[in-house]
Amino acid sequence: MKAFRGEPSIFASARPEDRRAELEVKKLTLKFGGITALNQIDLLVRTGELVAVIGPNGAGKTSLLNCITGYYKPQEGQIFFNGNEITNHHTHHLTKLGIGRTYQNIELFPGMTVLSNMLLARHAHCKYNIGKASLFLRSVRDEEVRHRQILEELIDFLEMQSIRKQLVGSLPYGMRKRVELGRALALEPKLLILDEPFAGMTLEEKEDMVRFLVELNESWNQTMVLVEHDMSVVMSISKRVAVLDFGVKLAEGTPEFVQNHPQVIKAYLGDTSEID
Ligand SMILES: Nc1ncnc2c1ncn2[C@@H]1O[C@H](COP(=O)(O)OP(=O)(O)OP(=O)(O)O)[C@@H](O)[C@H]1O
Ligand SMILES: [Mg+2]
Repeated sequence: MKAFRGEPSIFASARPEDRRAELEVKKLTLKFGGITALNQIDLLVRTGELVAVIGPNGAGKTSLLNCITGYYKPQEGQIFFNGNEITNHHTHHLTKLGIGRTYQNIELFPGMTVLSNMLLARHAHCKYNIGKASLFLRSVRDEEVRHRQILEELIDFLEMQSIRKQLVGSLPYGMRKRVELGRALALEPKLLILDEPFAGMTLEEKEDMVRFLVELNESWNQTMVLVEHDMSVVMSISKRVAVLDFGVKLAEGTPEFVQNHPQVIKAYLGDTSEID
């Protein structure tokens, strides 16, 4: 994306330093009947960090993301975003605050094109209402132009030029995952939350996705929470890793620390000698 390489660019108006985002989860507990999906979970993600959350199936990873993004209502605990409490805030409000996400099960409109899916996401940024739009005010027109420019830059960045007009439902699974990332980025999120973005991808698709995420994080200071089962990816791109098991945080630290943590090895990683 041009914006990542400097001026002139419409996207450059959102400078890396404008993307400050700090997330603090405190003693979060979430129960479904007799199941404790999250048990007193703490997590701190600082501006510009890429923090991974890993753990076995059913450990509570998606539940944690769903609490942060307002889909699930925790029974106990608090969530803060840039110092303001956001516990149980509405999803729509959290999107406006700058929390963007992708979903474990892709949530795109398969009958719409790549561009239309991304344009829909931009609606969260619309400052105009229907009344103003119907008058076709200059401000509305300018905003529409900006939406389009940002999307085109994102499409360039994610190397999706050749598929921009294709229906999402006709794309290979790995490519749909990339469109999902594009849709989340179209909101210009301060905090980007990714739920298994590498699942079902070919090796080549994974390499591309790694490249995009690393560039976002390192050049763009994009704060990210990454849930992922592919340990070679997690260990190579995360600065910090939190490990959940049965809703409890087993360990947290550098990739090296968690890879050598006896409880983590027992509960999830097994023999890590093959992770490179
Ligand atoms: N909406 C729900 N209703 C009832 N139980 C739920 C719901 N969502 C999650 N759970 C339960 O909460 C626990 C944690 O599930 P969660 O989906 O958060 O796990 P996960 O770590 O994301 O697993 P995976 O790696 O398989 O995606 C599981 O026991 C799950 O069955
Ligand atoms: Mg999950």
